[in-house]
Amino acid sequence: MEIAAAYRSYVVRVLVITGAGVSAESGIPTFRGKDGYWRNLDPAKLATPEAFTRDSKLVWEWYRERRQRIRNARPNAAHEAIAKLAKHADEFLLVTQNVDDLHKRAGLATDQMVQIHGDIFVTWCSRCHVSYTGRGGSPEPADPRAVQLESGRLRSIAPTSENDVDLPLCPKCDALMRPGVVWFGEQLPWDEVQRVESYLDRGACDLVIVAGTTATFGYIIDWALRGSVLIEVNPEETPLSRFATQQVREPAAIALPRIVDQLIASPSKL
Ligand code: OAD
Repeated sequence: MEIAAAYRSYVVRVLVITGAGVSAESGIPTFRGKDGYWRNLDPAKLATPEAFTRDSKLVWEWYRERRQRIRNARPNAAHEAIAKLAKHADEFLLVTQNVDDLHKRAGLATDQMVQIHGDIFVTWCSRCHVSYTGRGGSPEPADPRAVQLESGRLRSIAPTSENDVDLPLCPKCDALMRPGVVWFGEQLPWDEVQRVESYLDRGACDLVIVAGTTATFGYIIDWALRGSVLIEVNPEETPLSRFATQQVREPAAIALPRIVDQLIASPSKL
């Protein structure tokens, strides 16, 4: 690691928390922003288990539209800056509320990130936990019935393209499959919560960066306050702003590359 002693003593452990605002500049709508999803659509009709039971076709249509929009999108400078910071920090974890794969496509390793609200490209059986994934622009593999055993969960492979099958059925138990995301009123994925908690239990973070989120959920605020320096990147005020060491009221794709380069060059400037 080419990090100077002063720098090493400053940013050894980093936590970054992101929300929809970080993907906004890649053309992915936020939820509560001006053209946010929840401004025009009712989450109760699209992002709850009840909505899925009531009208799974409507819910799948919405998630397929979002999957296609994400496939057509590209990581932006904010995603790239976070991936760069991950390479320089001694210890690093990203907790993202985003179900898109833009952090991954920007080069962040999966063991350095937690998708706390799930992954939109996972298709998952809520009855027997068979799941399969289709990633980004990569074509979906051909044979839907090939099943491989992996870590006690059956995995199957997806049909050729999204529109082929209206409502995906589980290859094992024929139950209706759903997008692998966390819906309102549902528990967070326990293993992922444990990964965040164990990272934070291993010692206070030297730096926490929170970018592009309204910090709506209590666990986001809890985790954000587990560091000695908190930098908030958001054009707007949030419930976290009053705790921030620095409030950067700029778009993430503008602010994060600068902040990360400053951090790598000379942390004292921050
Ligand atoms: P929101 O839509 O609630 O908040 C987006 C935030 O990003 C707002 O504070 C904006 O000011 C800010 N923002 C917009 N453009 C930005 C930019 N270019 N750079 C930096 N910030 C920008 O989205 P989240 O906070 O991610 O959960 O929402 C949290 C969760 O609520 C989502 O994961 C989803 C939603 O319901 C579930 O569905 C479970």
